[in-house]
Amino acid sequence: MTSSKKILVLAGDGIGPEVMREVAKIVNWFRAYRGLDVDIAEELVGGASLEVHGVPIRDEVIQRAHEVDAILFGAVGDPKWAHVDFNLRPEAAILALRKELDLFANLRPAQVFDALADASTLKAEYVSKLDLLIVRETVGGIYFGTPRGIETLPDGTRRGINTELYTTPEIERVARVAFDAARKRQGHVCSVEKSNVMESGLLWREVVTSLQQAEYPDVTLTHMLADNCAMQLVRNPRQFDVIVTGNLFGDLLSDLASMLTGSLGMLPSATLGPLKEDGRRAALYEPIHGSAPDIAGQGIANPIAQILSFAMMLRYSFDRDEDARLIETAIENILNTGLRTADIMTPGTARVGTEVMVAAILQEIKRLSGQG
Ligand code: IPM
Ligand code: MG
Repeated sequence: MTSSKKILVLAGDGIGPEVMREVAKIVNWFRAYRGLDVDIAEELVGGASLEVHGVPIRDEVIQRAHEVDAILFGAVGDPKWAHVDFNLRPEAAILALRKELDLFANLRPAQVFDALADASTLKAEYVSKLDLLIVRETVGGIYFGTPRGIETLPDGTRRGINTELYTTPEIERVARVAFDAARKRQGHVCSVEKSNVMESGLLWREVVTSLQQAEYPDVTLTHMLADNCAMQLVRNPRQFDVIVTGNLFGDLLSDLASMLTGSLGMLPSATLGPLKEDGRRAALYEPIHGSAPDIAGQGIANPIAQILSFAMMLRYSFDRDEDARLIETAIENILNTGLRTADIMTPGTARVGTEVMVAAILQEIKRLSGQG
């Protein structure tokens, strides 16, 4: 018997596979006990795919990604491949998926669990109860703009070129995602660019402003220059509700915001494509953290970002808010008992590895639901 819905699992490199192996136990529990009726397929991406197939992602895998309802992604990146061309690096796999599936809106929440307020490098009084959402554009901007490349001038000087480029529709559609999200939150969007030095930033500011006036008068819109935003995120992060920004600034600011929560190992993300006529939309869920080659293979990686990414999938792709909350509550409760992976250790807490952390969270999910 086949299920109507499909998930594609792409564990990738480094800590990706060892975390995914454990998190699969939670996914399978939801299939067994909560009626999550999905087929699961797995494929290689990143360095793992390079190793076997000579490319970071095969066309067949992109095709498969088009066909499924949701993708659960681990992490890509392996220093072994740092010397090869950009289009052959492990990172090209995630960039190709974003581009090919038109996954333009990357939602990166930064929420501080009460139990972890002390794990932040910022004082707890600045980060406790923090709850912000970064909406990052992910298929445009300087990551994809042309011309690009490295060229050699007649005098032998070499020149590296990338182009920051945004069009009105590209800005509008990502701003819409941010405004819609704000309506379900505190009703405040802060749009971030460098309109003081960049034309693409100036256009960004104009387009977001017009859209707010025309379609979202109920949402409060403010603007901030990207450098100031970086500073404000560490000075007073709770001033933000939703931040909307381009690809490059979003990459930087979301790493920065994630550290406010104590660890990069805590934060999930969802990357969404346009809504199609049949009501479906391509969606990829991945932790914000990378492949962490320095700790890969040791069984010590924090699985929480990957588990929370699955929770986001339940909420956004399968309309299962209750199941998502079940996971989030279980994680909160387990953190309250003092269990910690190495990256979020504070004095007086107990250190466990990936496997024990996942087992504890699954146990708590069972207890809360009274199932399994
Ligand atoms: C991210 C990562 C990626 C990016 C890399 C792996 C290409 O840093 O998802 O934030 O820069 O977008
Ligand atoms: Mg990044």
